Amino acid sequence: MDSFTFYNPVKLHFGEDALEKLPKELELYGKKVLVVYGGGSIKANGVYKAVMDKLQQAGKTIFELSGVEPNPRVETARRGIEICKTEGIDLVLAVGGGSVIDCSKLIVAGAKYDGDAWDIVKRKVVVEQALPLGTVLTLAATGSEMNSGSVITNAATEEKLSWGSPAAFPKFSILNPAYTVTVPKNHTVYGIVDMMSHVFEQYFHNTTNTPITDEMCEGVLRTVITTAPKLLEDLENTKLRETILLAGTIGLNGFLSIGSRGDWASHNIEHAVSAVYDIPHAGGLAILQPHWMRLSVPVNPERFAGIATRVFGVDATNKTAEEVAYEGIDRLSAFWTSLGAPDRLADYHIDDSKFEQIVEHAMQNGPFGNFNKLHEEDVRTILRNSL
Ligand code: NZQ
Ligand code: ZN
Repeated sequence: MDSFTFYNPVKLHFGEDALEKLPKELELYGKKVLVVYGGGSIKANGVYKAVMDKLQQAGKTIFELSGVEPNPRVETARRGIEICKTEGIDLVLAVGGGSVIDCSKLIVAGAKYDGDAWDIVKRKVVVEQALPLGTVLTLAATGSEMNSGSVITNAATEEKLSWGSPAAFPKFSILNPAYTVTVPKNHTVYGIVDMMSHVFEQYFHNTTNTPITDEMCEGVLRTVITTAPKLLEDLENTKLRETILLAGTIGLNGFLSIGSRGDWASHNIEHAVSAVYDIPHAGGLAILQPHWMRLSVPVNPERFAGIATRVFGVDATNKTAEEVAYEGIDRLSAFWTSLGAPDRLADYHIDDSKFEQIVEHAMQNGPFGNFNKLHEEDVRTILRNSL
């Protein structure tokens, strides 16, 4: 293991009565609350009303920012920042999926910064303070409810970048599995792919002696793999939703990368693709990550073979580590497509015409990937193999 300092201050309220914890949280903050949400799913499923009732009962003055896009835009965050500054907002409450939460993180940081919000995303400034942020999560996927990261798109420059700061951790997050039962099948699948992908990103590192986090990663993956097909047959099953909801949070709240540095190259390439084509984040991952894996097997075939046998049930008898590794990756890809995820860029009508632009975006900070350092030609290979 590497030496580490672990810090995660998010208070998690989880379960069917989680919203009952909101009034007590609200007591800690001033009167003015900005509620941030997306395109209307929370109005259709009753979550909006449940949250608003609590805010009204607590005597809060409510402001709203709606219309946060999947792949949230910096312009939308700027609108939220403006409201915070002109109205003197005391608490931002994000109600939605990862996009709403990520946008809200930029709002709380931007509200305490005099310059433009895009400076924060471009990491031109170090974010040291932010308004308090609370979240009510409605979609299991990103882990944003319990981490300090945020991913923002600038459509004008065709960039999609991640940034983070300890100041951007939510103060509290409310997770009720029942709020996720209305997530449609496609977004349920994307969420499952995304959380699995996060586990892979953290599992593939070059640190030795990491049995605790290895076991945790493999356990989360096995649980998601057994739960996902049942959930897709029974979308309103709150017990199955509960398992997947917790898996998404554990998948990216820092626990799985204690003492090691995960790879994260697949996410970097996916962000470059979805900056140019605005496709769902996990749709891109389902296509790209198995090809990253195939390219990366030579770095440590035994590590890939281990996960192939212990998570994907590959029989290793009389096979080389490489053979087992590639069989495991094929099984992963087949599993994702069996759920309904795409496996070719062509599924999104993407050809090679903008590959150079994508490569340039992906390479903007130089070679990347902590397990397998990728250079321009490697990115091209992954993209070409994904066509
Ligand atoms: O906008 P509304 O109407 O709310 O609809 C959303 C949206 O269309 C809908 N939805 C959410 N909850 C629902 C629901 N529909 C019905 N019932 C509900 N309960 O689902 C659609 C997708 O929502 P979105 O928030 O975009 O999905 P997700 O949570 O997967 O977030 C994706 C974003 O997070 C970023 C991605 O890049 C992408 O921009 N990521 C953030 C990370 C982080 N902060 O740690 C890490 C990830 O790797 C990822 O990059
Ligand atoms: Zn992701």
